[in-house]
Amino acid sequence: MIDLDDLTTSEIEYIFARTKYFEESPPPRTLLQNRATLNLFFEQSTRTVTSFVLAEQRLGADVITLSPRDSSLGKGEAIEDSAITLAAMGISVLVIRHPEAGFPRRVAEAFDGHVVNAGDGTHAHPTQALLDIYTMLKEFGSLRNRRVAIVGDILHSRVAHSNILGLRSLGAQVVLVGPEVFLPQSFKQDGVAVERDFDAVLQNVDAIVLLRIQRERFAADPALITDQDYIAGYRLDGARLARLKEETIVMHPGPYNRGIELADDVLQYAGWRYARQVHHGVFVRMAVLDFLVNERSDAC
Ligand code: CP
Repeated sequence: MIDLDDLTTSEIEYIFARTKYFEESPPPRTLLQNRATLNLFFEQSTRTVTSFVLAEQRLGADVITLSPRDSSLGKGEAIEDSAITLAAMGISVLVIRHPEAGFPRRVAEAFDGHVVNAGDGTHAHPTQALLDIYTMLKEFGSLRNRRVAIVGDILHSRVAHSNILGLRSLGAQVVLVGPEVFLPQSFKQDGVAVERDFDAVLQNVDAIVLLRIQRERFAADPALITDQDYIAGYRLDGARLARLKEETIVMHPGPYNRGIELADDVLQYAGWRYARQVHHGVFVRMAVLDFLVNERSDAC
């Protein structure tokens, strides 16, 4: 699973039905019994790696977390040859994060098993988008005609890119909000609007997804935008929160940077859903792994 366009709308809905089942049931520690999973993270992670390990354990898999620094990649082995080696050992699922867009797809082409993209460069982060959308669905029941604003550094955000695919697949209206440097007009498409003025959308959105400025992805051009300019236009603070509809929820994939894209007021806001997103991440990842390995079942 490289991105959400690998899934039909019906498959996304099936994964959410299984997510709900896993959320409401004791961990079924047999669904990945006698299967081995390997987590290979070439970039830092707190949420994604931990929740994948928990998900794999709760499904009964043999779980391996390999630090790339300790692997034979350091001796010159090509990743394609590592993939052949791991498949020969009986690894069923590789969960991969890498700073290079397209890296998980390259591995998938060499690996005889399932590859789950846990975030590749600026390209995609499908399981984050699934847990974000699951959180919205629990709130609203359906996303049809709901308006979701994704705010900030859209250009460098793999989370935004996967969310756009998933939200459109489920019938939501997406409005992308950000300055020109983070949001080229080319993002505008069917079902996706582009808006420069954050204040203009506050009163007519059902959910806001805030994004971190991903400076590690444009380190060569640090002057692209100053924190001061960003804060003035796009930080969600008490004054902007006061203008939201009462039922609007606010989300963030994490990690968030206090004082930049959000003020501390957001953490006290009744509609702040960050902890619920993280909570849902384990069950969504259980559902994704179960779907890939066991395909569809009637158990939900
Ligand atoms: N949201 C997310 O991918 O967080 P981590 O980088 O901590 O995994």
